[in-house]
Amino acid sequence: MSKLSNKIAVITGGNSGIGFATAQQFIAEGADVVITGRNQKAIDEAVEKLGQKAIGILSDAASISDTEALVENVKARYGRVDVLVVNAGVNFMEPVGQITEKGFDYIANINLKGAIFTVEKFIPILAEGASVINVTSVSAFVVGMGTAVYAASKAALTAYSRTAAIELAPRKIRVNTIAPAMTETEIFHKGNGTFTEDMIAFTKNKMPFKRYGLPVEVAKLAVFLASDDSSFISGSEYVIDGAASVNEPFRM
Ligand SMILES: NC(=O)c1ccc[n+]([C@@H]2O[C@H](COP(=O)([O-])OP(=O)(O)OC[C@H]3O[C@@H](n4cnc5c(N)ncnc54)[C@H](OP(=O)(O)O)[C@@H]3O)[C@@H](O)[C@H]2O)c1
Repeated sequence: MSKLSNKIAVITGGNSGIGFATAQQFIAEGADVVITGRNQKAIDEAVEKLGQKAIGILSDAASISDTEALVENVKARYGRVDVLVVNAGVNFMEPVGQITEKGFDYIANINLKGAIFTVEKFIPILAEGASVINVTSVSAFVVGMGTAVYAASKAALTAYSRTAAIELAPRKIRVNTIAPAMTETEIFHKGNGTFTEDMIAFTKNKMPFKRYGLPVEVAKLAVFLASDDSSFISGSEYVIDGAASVNEPFRM
């Protein structure tokens, strides 16, 4: 039997990158998958590629009313959620001393407030024994230039996840985080576009494996945390970074 047979999974920000790869792996393991995103065309294209085990729902992670509507929609279709992957996230690079309210709000509303309220609003329909996977980042504990607010958002989500693991334990709900380092996705070309090709080449060279991670590599870790293979794992942080965060020169 496949690892995620009969499981209903919701993946926020599932139309690209790590979220999309996770949807692909979940479906390969038998799950029914709901992906969300903030762009209907991108969602439709992703669902087309994912096939009949996927549906897409437009839902801005920064909007609590959108998240409430998403939960109602999922509840009406499936009645419950077995796996919740809080993956929607953005970067917006600004050095300390030049942080703007616009940049702060953009990151905080999606990566922090949006992520926490995604979990909060789904809690009523999480099945007993459900798995919640919050996608954070090694930025939560490794310094990267221009990423102070992004790092703060991910560190805060890590802290929330640890408390949630304890407070949701009575319902046997597991809460874990996945903390990737640089992974080959479009995130570096979004936000305020300050991650240049030179910076990508520079940081790749700093990585012990001389490459970024692949979305599918993160997705396979998500399959493990979503499945009953990880039934006694909760409150844990899974770093997936090819040893980058233990590599001192990586600290630019
Ligand atoms: N790639 C890395 O190096 C890396 C490293 C550490 C952690 N992460 C984390 O991994 C997660 C996935 O990122 P990724 O690298 O796969 O980047 P990505 O390809 O840009 O995927 C992010 C997804 O989130 C969606 N999204 C962004 N804001 C949203 C919102 N307000 N509402 C709904 N969906 C929203 C994006 O939609 P659009 O397509 O419309 O933008 C996209 O589908 C993020 O939380 C990121 O912080 C990434």
